[in-house]
Order: sequence, then C-alpha cells, then structure tokens
Amino acid sequence: MEVLVPKFQSLKFPSPSCCCSITTWNSSYLKIGFRRLSSLSVSAASKVNEAVVESVIDSPSLGHSTRPHFPILHQEVNGSKLVYLDNAATSQKPTAVLKALQNYYEGYNSNVHRGIHFLSAKATDEYESARRKVAAFINASDSREIIFTRNATEAINLVAYSWGLSNLKSGDEIIVTVAEHHSAIVPWQLVAQKVGAVLKFVNLNQDEVPDLDNLKQVISRKTKLVVVHHVSNVLASVLPIREITHWAHDVGAKVLVDACQSVPHMIVDVQNLNVDFLVASSHKMCGPTGIGFLYGKIDILSSMPPFLGGGEMISDVYLDHSTYAEPPSRFEAGTPAIGEAIGLGAAIDYLSGIGMQTIHDYEVELGTYLYERLLSVPNIRIYGPAPSEKVQRAALCSFNVENVHPTDLATFLDQQHGVAIRSGHHCAQPLHRYLGVSASARASLYFYNTKEDVDNFIQALNDTVNFFNSFK
Ligand SMILES: Cc1ncc(COP(=O)(O)O)c(C=O)c1O
Repeated sequence: MEVLVPKFQSLKFPSPSCCCSITTWNSSYLKIGFRRLSSLSVSAASKVNEAVVESVIDSPSLGHSTRPHFPILHQEVNGSKLVYLDNAATSQKPTAVLKALQNYYEGYNSNVHRGIHFLSAKATDEYESARRKVAAFINASDSREIIFTRNATEAINLVAYSWGLSNLKSGDEIIVTVAEHHSAIVPWQLVAQKVGAVLKFVNLNQDEVPDLDNLKQVISRKTKLVVVHHVSNVLASVLPIREITHWAHDVGAKVLVDACQSVPHMIVDVQNLNVDFLVASSHKMCGPTGIGFLYGKIDILSSMPPFLGGGEMISDVYLDHSTYAEPPSRFEAGTPAIGEAIGLGAAIDYLSGIGMQTIHDYEVELGTYLYERLLSVPNIRIYGPAPSEKVQRAALCSFNVENVHPTDLATFLDQQHGVAIRSGHHCAQPLHRYLGVSASARASLYFYNTKEDVDNFIQALNDTVNFFNSFK
C-alpha cells in the first residue's frame, strides 16, 4: 500500500523550510519527504506563558504543582497544546535553573581558579559549590570524586582512555550488556581494539531484562571491568547494581555504572552501591546541556593518568615534561563549562527541594499508568519487563505498533497533536537488533508530566494508528 501524505492538505508536512527526510518502516508503505522545522521555534517564542506561577497549592499531583516552573511546557506546537514526552532524551529546565544561568552571565561571569579579582573568586566559589552539590546528591564521600565533563559520554571516554588504556591488556575481559547505550559500548570497543582486550556481551532473559544469571556466570578472573546501565533507556528495567558490584569486586574487577536514566529519577547513593565509576548528564536532570559528571573513587582517580592535556590540569610544566594536578583538576583541562556547572547545581537544589523519593514515587505511579494505558492500543508491543510487585519499571515505554513505522507515528503525533515522543534506535542499535527490530517509538515521562499528558498521548496515538489502519 502506498500513501502519499501531501494529498492530505490538513497535514502540515512539506514546507519550504524543511530539511530532514523521514525514513519509513517499509519504503513502499509510506512516503513522507520532509518535516517542517520552523513551527516550533516560532510558536515557542510567541506562546511561552510568561506568568509562571511559582508554586501551586492543593495541586492534584506533583506534575500539576511543578508544571508551572517550566515555562517551555506552556506553549502550543503545531496548533495543539504541547505534550512533552521525550524526557529520556533530555529534560526541560525550571525557571530556577534559567535564572541561575542568567545570574552567572549577568552578575559574575569570569574564569575560574585563575583570577584573584572579585568576579573570578565568586565564579570559582559557585563552580566548586556546584561540585559539592553533585557530590552530596549522589552521596560521594568527597567532592574531589566528582569530575565535571561535557556529558556522560565524555565521562565514559575519560575512564576508557585514562583508566582503560593504563589498566587493560591483551586477553582482559570487559563485560557489557546488549542493552547499553552506544556511549557505554563504543569507547570500550575503541580501547579494547588498542590493547587487545575482549568485550563480552550479556543478553536479555525471557522477561526482557539483562540476564543476571548469565552476567554472574561470565564474570571471571579475566574480567577487569563491568559496564552496566542502572536504568535502561529502552527497556525501562532497573539493574541491581549493589549485587553486580559485589560479584565484580569478588574477582577484583571494577564497575562503571551508566546512571543517565537513574540519577534524574531516584535516589542514587554511590557509597551504598559501592560502584567504582558512575556517570550522568546534567541535561536529563533539569540542568543545562554541555555539562555532565564522572564519579570515581578517589584512590582510583588518583592513580589514573590525565585524559586531556592543557591548562588547569597541571602542577608544573617544563619544556620536556609536566607534572599533573590532583583530581579533580587533573581531569578538567581548559576552561570548564562554568555557567553550566552552576546551572547543574541549581537543578540539584531544585530536585532536592522536591525530594528524589517524592519524584520517584510519583514517577512509578505515572509510569505504570502509561504502561497500562498503552496496553489498550491494538497491536502494540511494549519492550522490557511488565510492571509487577517485584518488577519496577522506569517511567518510559518503548513500543511498536504493527505495520506502522515508529518515525511515522512520532511525526504524526507531533504534527497533528503536538505530542513529542522519540523514535529510532535510541542509541541502542545492538539492543534493537536483539529485539528483532530496527527502531521503536518511545514515550518517556518526568515528574512534571501528568495523567492528562498520558491520556492526551494515548488518544493521539489511537487517532494516529486509526489513520494508518484506514489505508489497509
Ligand atoms: C542510558 C544512557 N546512557 C548514556 C547516554 C548518553 O548521554 P549524553 O548524550 O548526555 O552523553 C544517554 C542519553 O541518551 C542514555 O540514555
């Protein structure tokens, strides 16, 4: 069957300002050439609700009480009220974070650790205070254990190139699951190729979660590192990190946890989990883009060589060699993302003000609601474990609807209903291959979402599926 979308005038597809083509499930099934990009920015600029209420008393839910703190949510997209369900890709930012960035650039923009003047001292204080906030947020025992990076990806690369190159040798094994994000696979492929180490992949079990029995089995004396996600960005599954670190430490291996999808949504305590390394990105936890962090146990960080060379990371520089600063400076070469780190500190203040347990409890309820409502959509396949008393899912669902390409779904939801979801492989191609699909659609929630958002999404999804089915 072939549907040529431009026949439907009400669908706002081809536009002179377009620039990206959309691939389809089956190229003979649907041909949508272009997607309009200009509408978002225009309506975003004009329709942001200026009068954001600071707090709402007697709100029916956490979503209702916090939504007013996020100006971007109060706009129309493509003629419909925006429903933002792409939080696993990036979260929105509350006014408190926007103000922190503005205060920095308006009030004390200056370089850190270098100047003795007032502005530089203030910027340095705030930057280092942000580091302490991150440390306290994940219960690190020492703020020197927090390295600011550009994002989680850079944090993993830092460990791969610094710790990996100096600790891995030919025949050593790195255990990874098939459900890892590309940023937790590719750096290890690169380093393994250099040193002759071997990557061993753990598959999923019947419940569509990484097979822990298999993980336990493959950990051996050859294992030098276990790299696992805390919460899967596709399956929504949650791994028992404490147990995994126990198994790894038993054979003297280190554990790196990709906490991109857990730190924004639940209490994460690095001492309790006993992880060696943990990474996360600010932009997924209400903070600015361009900043993330690596947590590493101080004795391990102290033993690691620099990742990048330049200013800030040295102790003394001679013509023929240099000596290096102690962590964290050793790993923060050059001028860091100062305003962004301060913005991340403000995001942590904001999240802590609500309480991570409150956020988590609300998301468990909302995520279950999303899962159950999605099950009512005909011919849907939701990936990952079913929620139950024993199995807790994160508040996201990756799914496919029979005979409809996820990108077509996402495009219609956006263009016709103002619903923002993600489609594609979500930087987890090996996992999608394992699941036997090339792509999926993903709706991911945050604490500022409400049941009405979910209801609007489900209604829009049913409309969209009916639209496609009408051409069968
Ligand atoms: C589980 C997981 N790991 C790693 C990343 C990479 O994060 P970033 O692109 O911010 O480095 C993401 C982002 O999508 C993620 O969801």
